[in-house]
Formats: sequence, C-alpha cells, structure tokens
Amino acid sequence: MNETVKAMERGDASRETLRKGLTLRGADQEALFALARVRRDAAFGGGAVEVRSVIEISNICKQRCNYCAIGSGSCEGQYLIEVAEFIERIELLSRVGRRVVLVQSGENDDQDFVDHVAACVGAAKQSHPDMVLLLCLGNMARAQYARLREAGADRYILKFETSNPELYHKLKPRDTLDNRLRCLKDLVELGYRVGSGNMVGLPGQTIEDMVTDILTLGFLDLAMSSCTPFIPGIETIYRDEPMGDVDLALNTMALVRILYPNRLIPTTSSLEKARPDGQYLGLMAGANTVTIHDGTPPERKDLFPIYDSKRFSPGEEHLMNAVRRAGMKPVQGALR
Ligand code: 5AD
Repeated sequence: MNETVKAMERGDASRETLRKGLTLRGADQEALFALARVRRDAAFGGGAVEVRSVIEISNICKQRCNYCAIGSGSCEGQYLIEVAEFIERIELLSRVGRRVVLVQSGENDDQDFVDHVAACVGAAKQSHPDMVLLLCLGNMARAQYARLREAGADRYILKFETSNPELYHKLKPRDTLDNRLRCLKDLVELGYRVGSGNMVGLPGQTIEDMVTDILTLGFLDLAMSSCTPFIPGIETIYRDEPMGDVDLALNTMALVRILYPNRLIPTTSSLEKARPDGQYLGLMAGANTVTIHDGTPPERKDLFPIYDSKRFSPGEEHLMNAVRRAGMKPVQGALR
C-alpha cells in the first residue's frame, strides 16, 4: 500500500502526510478513498446516507463575498418566505418522508430576520416535532444564536471557507476570520451540532492553506464537515479564474473522514458542477449525506444564485442513483 495511506492508517496527521495525501492520484488515491470508506462504515455502519432537503428562506445578504452572486446587482428581487409558506413547505417535505431540513439564507443578522426565523422554526417544531432543523444563516451575535436554539433549531452550519486570515478577508471583505471563529465557538457552546468546512481551489489559495484547513477542522468541536471545490461564478469577479480541482476537494474529504470519522460529510452539488458524477465520487471518498433541492418554492429557486445565476441542482433521482451505485442506502432522518 502507498506509504502516505499507511501513515494515515496509523493515525499520522502531520502536515507532510496531509500535503502528500492531497496530491495522491490514480491507484494511490483509490487506496486513500478505500481507507476513508472503511472508517466511515466503521463509524456509521451499513452504508447509511443522511438525506436532507433545503429551504432557501431568504436571499437577503449583508456580506458581499467575492465568490458569490447573492446580493450583487444581478440578483434581482429580494425575498423572504413568510411563516405560513414555510410551514407549507415543511408539510410537503414531511409528506415525502423527509426528516432533516436545512434552512438557508443570505447572511443576515437583522433582529427582525432572526425573530422571523425563530417563528418559522418554532412553528415547524410544533407541527413536526420529529423534523431535525439545520440552520445556515451566517454570522450573528451569540444572543441571536441562543434565540434560534431556544426556538428549537438542532444544528447550524457555518463554514470558515479558508483558515488563511488574509485570504478570508479578501474573499469576504466585510468580515474577518476571527469573527467567524468566534461565531463557531458560540454555536458549539450553545449546544448546536455544528458543521463547518472549507472551499478548495480558491484564487490565491495554496496547498499549505488547505493543510491548515484540514487541521483547523480538528480544533473545532464539529458534528459535520464539508468541503467544496471552488466554482468561479459567472456573475462574480472570479469568473475567469479556474475551477477548483475536484481531486483536491475529494482528497480533502477523504482525509477529513479518516482524521474525524464520526462526522457527517456532505457530497455537494458543487462537486457535480465541477465534474459530471462528482457527487458519486464524493460518496466514494467518504461522504455520507446528500441534500435534495426540493424545499425552496420553485419560483424562488433562481433568486438564490450561490455559484451561478441559474441555480444548479441535480435532481433527486440522479442523487439516489449515485447513492445506490456507491453501495449505500438513503436514510430519512438524522444519522447522528
Ligand atoms: N464555489 C464553491 N462553493 C461556494 N459556496 C458559495 N459560493 C461558492 C462558490 N463560488 C459555498 C460556501 C458557502 C456555502 C453556502 O456554499 O462554502 O458556505
């Protein structure tokens, strides 16, 4: 077996081993993925894949991240889903068997918005107590996170995107890495099951940065870790930059799985966008969750252009097919 994979198997998490692990290709990469799957299946058993839906509750965003088109001039029509419509969507998702729903929005810490989401979460938990709710709403004050937790939110996803503070500030000119990490600490302390992660292949990002990202995931007390290849959005200043390297992203996922076996790791639509069958490869590299884009009302979908003007979302059938081909089986409900 490849020396680096053997070192990973022994629990070696040195920078040198991680650096080499990121660049494995061909049969050596296959061996890395195989180890990641062994660790995943030992931790979770039975090849289970957590299936989620996402409701994009609002596209109002206070950040102006350079990689994202939300909030740019080309994202016309701000929207906010009202409580009644939110509950309708939860109802619909519940009827198709969904038990885990991600509630996503632009980054918005207006107290009115926080109160609105708290009302949505509270109402959803009341009518569907068995529904696990994950929030992904960006940076907030600790008291705001506490309010949403008290309303019934179970989990929160807040990616640090890059652990390089200069690069972070370049990507997110209105924010700092320190503030992001403060938010993550607050979320963990408030009892959320927290997810975080990075993007791979950002303009100006180095392999050393990616190694630090992987180690940073270990310093945080996380239940979920996510890695996505950078997509140069056509409506962003990065439109002419190269796409993030899918192999680097997949190897990051495998390394994260081996180092932190008990975490939920999504296979994201950005993988599929960067390479056909990318989400299948994500499962083969150790991922164990998929998100179906069936929660946002259809007429709003194009108003949430994270990495494209027309939102790219592989359909449920395609995803379920990838799950089956990976020898795994979809589970409606929280794996952890
Ligand atoms: N390329 C890849 N991932 C992106 N995200 C946002 N924009 C991009 C992009 N251009 C990811 C970020 C963010 C999540 C909601 O989507 O990691 O946290």
